[in-house]
Amino acid sequence: MIEAAQYVLGLGRVSAVDDVLLNTLGGAVAAVVGVHLLAPRVRGAAQPGTRRGRLPSLPGPTHPGGVNPDADLLLRRGRLDDVNSLAPMSGSADRALARLRAAGTGDETLLVAEHDGRVVAAVSVRWHHDCDPPHPWLYGLHVSAAVRRHGFGTLLLGAAETVASLRGVEAMSLDVDRGETGLVAFYERRGYAKVGPHEHHWRSVSSATGDVVAEGTADTWIMRHRLGSD
Ligand SMILES: CC(C)(COP(=O)(O)OP(=O)(O)OC[C@H]1O[C@@H](n2cnc3c(N)ncnc32)[C@H](O)[C@@H]1OP(=O)(O)O)[C@@H](O)C(=O)NCCC(=O)NCCS
Repeated sequence: MIEAAQYVLGLGRVSAVDDVLLNTLGGAVAAVVGVHLLAPRVRGAAQPGTRRGRLPSLPGPTHPGGVNPDADLLLRRGRLDDVNSLAPMSGSADRALARLRAAGTGDETLLVAEHDGRVVAAVSVRWHHDCDPPHPWLYGLHVSAAVRRHGFGTLLLGAAETVASLRGVEAMSLDVDRGETGLVAFYERRGYAKVGPHEHHWRSVSSATGDVVAEGTADTWIMRHRLGSD
């Protein structure tokens, strides 16, 4: 998936941008949509009807890949202090900041999945002004390689659609490189259908100078899912 535009913040202005982010994100942070989706980890406090010393030992059994299956799984809005975790998922720290900034203004929503205290997946939705108006545009779905194929991608896709549905949105759109047939199939299995070919224009801007340092086009499919349908 390719973003419609790549916004890059000047590094020299980061402190000022941080102020803006903190101010504008304040409401969003306070309105965290966090829900403990799985059974919360036992923290050692005695529970009614239990005796101290009889609680299961911590941490729980770990997956051979090092993943703790008993860890908390939290779905919430992205926060400014997620920027380092979001950077590799976004391509750069600048792009991660741009996503957070857009979320802070309300132009976008950025959702993350936090597992075992680490942000492991993210997705953004741009609510207006993208390539398939009037439908919102989902982009930046990314799951850390270590935890792929455990449902995080499907979880965040569904969460983004739920937020859209709560806003009264009828359909969600996105685009996928036409050569990425596996990804096209991934979205088709989740209710998305191709609505047409698209030539996606992209550009990269220098964080130091603000100059466009690279630009190009990519052949994609726009795909759309009517929310509430299969
Ligand atoms: C695509 C991606 C988000 C899936 O996340 P995930 O947590 O592994 O997804 P889930 O566990 O919910 O589902 C796994 C699905 O991903 C598919 N998948 C995994 N890797 C894939 C790949 N390289 N290409 C296509 N599909 C892939 C699996 O076939 C499976 O599909 P199915 O359940 O329909 O059979 C993840 O592989 C990723 O972050 N990839 C890199 C970034 C990317 O390509 N993002 C999508 C941009 S359009």
